[in-house]
Amino acid sequence: MHASFHLAADLDRALRAAAAAAGLADAAAFAPEVRVADPKHGDFQANGTLGYAKARKLNPRAVADQIANALPAEVRAAFDHVIAGPGFINFTLKPAALLAWLNSFATADRLRSGASAAHAGQTWVVDYSSPNTAKQMHVGHLRSAVIGEAICRLLAFTGARVIRDNHLGDWGTQFGKLIYGYKRWADQAALATDAIEELERLYKLGNAATPDGSPELEEARRELVALQNGDAANVALWQKFSEVSLAAFQQIYDRLGIRFDHNLGESFYNDKVERIYRELTETTPPLAQISEGALVVFHPEHPRFKTQPFLVRKADGASNYASTDLATALYRTEHFKADGIVVVTDFRQADHFEQLFLTVRKWFAAKSYRLPELHHVTFGAVTGEDGKALKTRSGDVIKLKALLDEAEDRAFAIVSEKNPDLPEPERREIARTVGIGAVQYADLSQNRSSNYIFSWDKMLALDGNTAPYLLYAVARIHSIFRKAAASPHDPAHAAAASGLETAAEILLARKLVKFPDALRLATDTLRPHFLGLYLFELAGDYSSFNNADKVLVDEPAVRARRLLLCARTLLTLETGLHLLGLRTLTRM
Ligand code: ARG
Repeated sequence: MHASFHLAADLDRALRAAAAAAGLADAAAFAPEVRVADPKHGDFQANGTLGYAKARKLNPRAVADQIANALPAEVRAAFDHVIAGPGFINFTLKPAALLAWLNSFATADRLRSGASAAHAGQTWVVDYSSPNTAKQMHVGHLRSAVIGEAICRLLAFTGARVIRDNHLGDWGTQFGKLIYGYKRWADQAALATDAIEELERLYKLGNAATPDGSPELEEARRELVALQNGDAANVALWQKFSEVSLAAFQQIYDRLGIRFDHNLGESFYNDKVERIYRELTETTPPLAQISEGALVVFHPEHPRFKTQPFLVRKADGASNYASTDLATALYRTEHFKADGIVVVTDFRQADHFEQLFLTVRKWFAAKSYRLPELHHVTFGAVTGEDGKALKTRSGDVIKLKALLDEAEDRAFAIVSEKNPDLPEPERREIARTVGIGAVQYADLSQNRSSNYIFSWDKMLALDGNTAPYLLYAVARIHSIFRKAAASPHDPAHAAAASGLETAAEILLARKLVKFPDALRLATDTLRPHFLGLYLFELAGDYSSFNNADKVLVDEPAVRARRLLLCARTLLTLETGLHLLGLRTLTRM
């Protein structure tokens, strides 16, 4: 079998060629629409004949027959096909073709090359996490970090050069109040132990001490203006705020397996906004106009933004979130030569990004700048099981650090109960991987557009679509290899394997070959849960196989092919989980 006929895309190509070879009139208009089928019907289904035949008043079943009969020999050798219903062509991989696939896709690199080179040669900038400085990350910051990192890994796996950019909120009026508070009440000892906690306290004090209309507020404003004008003392303080914030953020990122290439926050664009104002006003007709003193962009073609403009410079002349984001889009295009830009934030920023992207499209077209693909990846809110915002008992927001600690502690209790004999350091290590993985995966396993209900019991459960379930499947396969005193990487299993025979073997193999399609779906839609769902189903098919067929049997050829299935399941689960940002274990 041709090594890449596992892909719906390859079947699609073969069907188009077959339509031409069959001499169909207007064959170029035939779109096969191949997709992964319900396993009851086969592996792939081509739906396109119906539309094609109907439009030409032909019999769809006859057309499907004609096309299928013109398929090249190598496709017919690999697939059985049936014409179903109104001309659907259902394809099922033959056991020999499945075995050939398993032989061929033996390493993560091989899976990568077989996956899809959808983004080969492209540069993608992914802007995620991007918290505001001088504040701790709280539970609301979890989703952007976790979803963003998974998207980075998916894009990289499909060939992109990925630039991870942490667009810190490190500029704005809050720094006047923070400096005001800092200069009066900073506690050096507290700064040495937990700087960011202390900065939060100082901001709260500064904010409380500067009510509207008070002389204190005037003083805080003067601190802000001094900072903006480059006053050495205030700039040094501000720099310190950024440094301690980043150091604290990095502790969280380390636990989540995240490493940014750049931390180009809002302040980085301070000297880049003048150009934006100029370019938006110098086009004919000008894209931006002055309205009540502010510089704004209307989008007359849009139902809401024709009356509700995008405010790109405030009436007092100050820049804002829109100005820096416009400058950011330009910088990413010019400096990083981005082919794609992804920004990951919660859905409440949807209007901002819609207006931003509309503006960027018109502005880049007016200036003949190359336009990258622009994606705002949104996600729903995190709530407790009661549907309300997640809070501590005392009603405060939950800090991300505390949340990750609790995940590890809870996982440690579970691991200790299940494996009381393991040495404590090993139990701690397992708990770290399971606890953090559970938090990451609880988020990634759901469609990101939905609100996400945070439930310790669900995410730590050993069954269901959870990290512990998947990590356990991985560990269990490792234990089979330990028992067999064999390595999953040993090519001998493939070499000695006999043809797949049992229903469970074939079902598992049919699931394994769908990995590239699941990967493609997750990457094309920037929705990691499609990959999660695939891994969950794969683990289920593996478990059925394991219950039905003993792996370590005496007949060498049967044992070899079952070890081959174990090895490929392991490879696929590990590759998939790593793509989602999780670590895996060999023992649990
Ligand atoms: N700092 C912002 C926030 O906390 C997110 C920034 C997202 N990135 C961007 N380019 N606007 O909501």
